[in-house]
Amino acid sequence: MNRSEYEVMMRGAGQLDYEIYLNTARLLACQKTPEDLCNPDELQFMIVHQVEELWMKLMATTLLDIHDEMLAGNTFKALTLFRRVHICQEMMTTQLSLLETMSPKDYQEIRLLLGNGSGQESPGFRVLLKMPKDLWATFEAVYLESGNRTLEQVYDSEYRHDDTYMIAEALAEFDEQFQKFRNAHMQLIYRSIGVAANSLKGRPVEILNEGLRQKFFPALWTVRAEMTDRWGGSYGQKRAKLEPKADA
Ligand code: HEM
Repeated sequence: MNRSEYEVMMRGAGQLDYEIYLNTARLLACQKTPEDLCNPDELQFMIVHQVEELWMKLMATTLLDIHDEMLAGNTFKALTLFRRVHICQEMMTTQLSLLETMSPKDYQEIRLLLGNGSGQESPGFRVLLKMPKDLWATFEAVYLESGNRTLEQVYDSEYRHDDTYMIAEALAEFDEQFQKFRNAHMQLIYRSIGVAANSLKGRPVEILNEGLRQKFFPALWTVRAEMTDRWGGSYGQKRAKLEPKADA
């Protein structure tokens, strides 16, 4: 195979309608050229990060739309858009495992080129960290306060699997998927640079543990714990063992 011939083909000429509409000439120039890569894995490292930024851009834009749909009381539309966000989140987590095909040595070579950069500087991630506060305020105003309902009623005493319950569950799913990303990312760090290593900012990677515990919507997790306590009141802290069935 003639490598350089294929590399030119990969860039495309940028003249066809597909290439013009999608701006492939610019898109495919966003990575280092083959001769500038420190090793072959650097291309994958760049592409995974760039793709993740694009998913975060799509998620953040979609969350803005969800916010508007919630304000307008368009629950079905908001739920469809939430599904889009959740799929992006799942893909973000799954795609991290691509980087587990990179050897620790190859990553050390790449790491020499990263300055003191940190994922905490990611524009997509930063905006996603801020948005849940606004989403929660709107959920409370539109779905709880306007109907004069509490989360306890929605989940337990007046449970009816309605619009409010569905939106609350979509928010809980967002929270959970975010945690799954953070957990998978922590495993990736361990796999690449080891446990208890220092980040490029010179701080222990364990500072990320705080994020692993963060809940965007704590009330959605508390409401379940309170239900467990209340329902558990019928059997106390621990239940009696089940009796074997007569015909067993
Ligand atoms: C070999 C692969 C990777 C390694 C070794 C790695 C390592 C790290 C480290 C050490 C930090 C903490 C930096 C600090 O002190 O601020 C960090 C944060 C972060 N990284 Fe990565 N990372 C990798 C891949 C990725 C990828 C593919 C993404 C995709 C978006 C990503 C997104 C982030 C984000 C969002 C944070 C901030 C996390 C938070 O605040 O909870 N990282 N990463």
